[in-house]
Amino acid sequence: LEDRLRKTVQPEQGRIPFFTYTDPGVHDLEIERIFGRDWQFLGHVSEVPNPGSFVTRRMGRENVIVGRGDDSVVRVFLNACRHRGMTLACEDFGEVNNWRCPYHGFTFGSKGDFLGTFMGAPFERVAYPEGLDRDALHLIEARCEIYQGLIFATWSKSGPSLDDHLGNVKWYLDLLVGKAEMEVVGHPERWMVPTGWRLPAENFTSDAYHTATAHSFLSRLNMVKGADFGREGYHVNVGNGHGLGVGVHFDEESYFPKELEDEYRANLDEDQFRMLSRIKNLHGNAFPNFTFLVPNFIEVEGRRVTGLMLRTWQPVAPNQTQVWSWHLVEKNAPEWWKKLGKRMYTQTFSSSGMFDQDDTEVWEAQTRMSDAALYREEEVFLHYGMGMDLPTLDKSEFPGPGDVYDGKFSEEAGRTFYRVWLDRLLEAKK
Ligand code: FES
Ligand code: FE
Repeated sequence: LEDRLRKTVQPEQGRIPFFTYTDPGVHDLEIERIFGRDWQFLGHVSEVPNPGSFVTRRMGRENVIVGRGDDSVVRVFLNACRHRGMTLACEDFGEVNNWRCPYHGFTFGSKGDFLGTFMGAPFERVAYPEGLDRDALHLIEARCEIYQGLIFATWSKSGPSLDDHLGNVKWYLDLLVGKAEMEVVGHPERWMVPTGWRLPAENFTSDAYHTATAHSFLSRLNMVKGADFGREGYHVNVGNGHGLGVGVHFDEESYFPKELEDEYRANLDEDQFRMLSRIKNLHGNAFPNFTFLVPNFIEVEGRRVTGLMLRTWQPVAPNQTQVWSWHLVEKNAPEWWKKLGKRMYTQTFSSSGMFDQDDTEVWEAQTRMSDAALYREEEVFLHYGMGMDLPTLDKSEFPGPGDVYDGKFSEEAGRTFYRVWLDRLLEAKK
């Protein structure tokens, strides 16, 4: 398989073989060499506000606990009891003094210095008269780092820092989550989609092209008022496999509430603030599966409103993905903005979102077709060749970092996504 991948995955030529969409061997390699090693997004600090607060999340196939100690440090553990591996925290979220395993009752600290340490077992002195090696029973811990309130973790002990991994995408994340104090609204939604994780991740990385066709009826029926899928905008190959697209407007008026302006200005530099004022929409993905989106602002009750959506695409099987979707809002925003923003999120990008209905149908069909392509003697290639030799813009034309292209008709970030993906899959286990 590795040989076949080496020969047939040719991102620089704009060619990706169809079988990779659903090949079970490829999926296993991804689990081991991407989800076993790469930085993955788990949630936002506002979801674990107090000592003892925790949420349970996924990193590929693993279930993990994201906990917060008295010392405010967020830490991430495999959600498996060290006795016989039972799921330790069975809830999605909570606030507890310790975690007690539902099987035999081994207990682990959930706060402060005790976060993750073995605290005791039922009838311990009788059951284990010779004593227990308490250090060996410490929960298995992942490396955790936070950027602008976003919690990431990795199983890799020696890989790059989160800072290095994110690289240039930090500039853009600042516009989304660094501009103001943000909070998650409610709890993240989850649902299943019959596709591999890579199709949606790659779609948000570099596919602004599909909006004019796949989502066209939304604007034709005027269901998303004010939405437009024109060519104005930029495509950014951010580096490290991250990619994004920005739609801009040139109106005098910015979309955000005036009440937030001072906070934005205090947290962003001049270039970032100006960019934020011009953003009409922004879609992107940080490798491997962390998607962010500011949907096109739309008019609700006569006001312009948009929101912030974060997502991960959790690999369940070659043709099964669990979607996690967060809606975030500025903590100090006026009530109308919060209320309409929530409505906007629910209607556009969420389990009931109109855009998701369109996209899911496409990903599902591609996945089904890939299964057929898998068994062909001759390799079937898909086309990733849009905008191969376009010139990049310089800083005077676009202030953000990365290779920036004028207009939306480029798949350069998608090709880099596949280059990084292939390099990961072919890297022998460290
Ligand atoms: Fe957790 Fe036995 S498996 S206490
Ligand atoms: Fe879409």
